[in-house]
Amino acid sequence: MQKTKAIILAGGSGSRLYPLTSIMSKQLQPVYDKPMIYYPLATLMLAGIQDILIITTPHDAPHFHQLLKDGSQWGISIQYVEQAAPKGIAEAFLYGKEFIGNDQVCLILGDNLFYGKLDFLRQAIANNQGATIFGYPVQDPERYGVVEFNADGSVISIEEKPKTPKSQYAIPGLYVFNNEVISIAEQLQPSQRGELEITDVQNVYLQRKQLQVEKMGRGIAWLDTGTPESLLEAGEFIHAIEKRQNLKIACLEEIALRMNFIDMKRYERLLETLPHSSYREYCNRVLQEYLPS
Ligand code: DAU
Repeated sequence: MQKTKAIILAGGSGSRLYPLTSIMSKQLQPVYDKPMIYYPLATLMLAGIQDILIITTPHDAPHFHQLLKDGSQWGISIQYVEQAAPKGIAEAFLYGKEFIGNDQVCLILGDNLFYGKLDFLRQAIANNQGATIFGYPVQDPERYGVVEFNADGSVISIEEKPKTPKSQYAIPGLYVFNNEVISIAEQLQPSQRGELEITDVQNVYLQRKQLQVEKMGRGIAWLDTGTPESLLEAGEFIHAIEKRQNLKIACLEEIALRMNFIDMKRYERLLETLPHSSYREYCNRVLQEYLPS
């Protein structure tokens, strides 16, 4: 299997969440008990990815550094790049060119949350040839990239925020691309709204017959957090599940341990650095369950 790196795109103006975002970036806002970026980071770690680039705004970069550091505490590597202005999602591959090197790359938007069994992502990473993206049925597809399928399941079209969507299937902000994505992004022209569109990248792969679109099963929850209402709903969703199961979603320390990115000794040392909180108590509980009885 070829090596996979990942980019979390966590820039943008966050204007739809104003005034929340006037001081602090969208991806640092709380989703119940954790900063939003913990969730996409957890998704990547659970998919086995340990080499991660975070793209932020120049203003917010210091906050992300302070929060996540270089990732070594969780047995991963986190690098940072600043996007000068939000000129489109596909710019991620230009800013990420050096980081990606000769590898394939998984891109996740920093405001997209996934909950459920992540086999669909692990398989996409393992089997990707050109590009692999996903389709997810939603009530309001016009807010997203939309994919239209033929009766035989093949893809007919991909459109960004169409006024009249041709299907209910939105494209979540989680994609796997082979290394050609860099040269494709380099040749893109800005759209009418002046952005390098991720859907234009997908359309190049579609024309080349190298685009795989997998329907994401109903067992996966895909939440976005772009508006005050969807942010609140995402928090309520996480709260409901955490309360019911008495487990935490996206506890990065726990994931690092369970994925064997760090061993138990390192985990114990890491816990000592956490402030006394319900979060630390939870991490301690995980440790007790892990200890041989
Ligand atoms: O959420 C999935 C959707 O994300 C896809 O279905 C669409 O095809 C895709 O274009 C995107 O649509 P959005 O309207 O959500 O894109 P938005 O401009 O809000 O950007 C998504 C995130 O990426 C946002 O949290 C900020 C970040 N971003 C965005 C741009 C344009 C950046 O960091 N830099 C950018 O230049």
